[in-house]
Amino acid sequence: MDQDRIEGVTRYAVVGDPVAHSQSPRIHTLFAEQTGEELIYTKQRVTVDEFTQFVGSFFAENGGGLNVTLPHKETAFELADGHSRRSKLARAANTLWLGDDGSLQADNTDGAGLVHDLSINNRITLTNRKLLVLGAGGAARGALASLVECGLSSITVLNRTLARATALKADFAAVYPINVQDFTSARLSPHDIIINATSMSLSGYIPPLDPDLLSDHCCCYDMMYSPKPTAFMDWAKRHGAGKVFDGIGMLVEQAAESFFVWRGVRPETADVIATLQRVSA
Ligand code: ATR
Repeated sequence: MDQDRIEGVTRYAVVGDPVAHSQSPRIHTLFAEQTGEELIYTKQRVTVDEFTQFVGSFFAENGGGLNVTLPHKETAFELADGHSRRSKLARAANTLWLGDDGSLQADNTDGAGLVHDLSINNRITLTNRKLLVLGAGGAARGALASLVECGLSSITVLNRTLARATALKADFAAVYPINVQDFTSARLSPHDIIINATSMSLSGYIPPLDPDLLSDHCCCYDMMYSPKPTAFMDWAKRHGAGKVFDGIGMLVEQAAESFFVWRGVRPETADVIATLQRVSA
């Protein structure tokens, strides 16, 4: 059956380039089945040149909402007329929809997904904990947009390119005093939580990290996921991290948050996370 031909059912999609690997259609279809919401969710490969026109046409043809992934998150933010507070902080959007007045609205649910996975699913306390974030790109910004609200005692960002981390610090200065350093000159005491938000983990590399950064019960979280533990997860286990997680839970939780934004219904996530973990095992 060609799902795009089902009349009268609201369409949603994830848009990216590449997008073939995306698990979002599977996740949202499971959410729809579970909640009884009638919708169609597909993936669409859309190039940088096509993106703006694609978004215009999608919503002109009554599309219900878009998830946006690499490399379009910044453009999605810029295209929108209205922005959630967290998307403004991230300067990037992963969720688009039309407001009641027909204006294009943008949100960023990545950080909320991460915080939910850490604090609810994995019971990691964030309040009064020292957080280290590796990376200062779009993924780090999205995560920090929600992490700054969690009562952490300190947030430090390490990045290869110090200028990028310094720009991030300036953008967040009004809401949280983030410390920034580069990997080579960093001199840091142990941290309670380390989150890898660099894009290098899947290529099998990790930034040059001092194992002394790990506190006794340190929690290490890689925002990436892959069938095998990532290089960062291997590093963390090798050096005795108390808890080590990949980003599958975050992926499902950010999707649940988008589903809620669009449909006003919050799906249960535990079974969906378990399904994805089984598939990727
Ligand atoms: P994303 O949206 O996934 O965050 P991005 O905005 O391109 O993608 O950011 C990628 C992040 O991974 C950055 O923090 C980048 O560091 P730089 O700002 O110095 O480029 C980091 N990164 C990517 N490859 C890296 C590598 N080989 N070594 C260290 N950091 C790397």
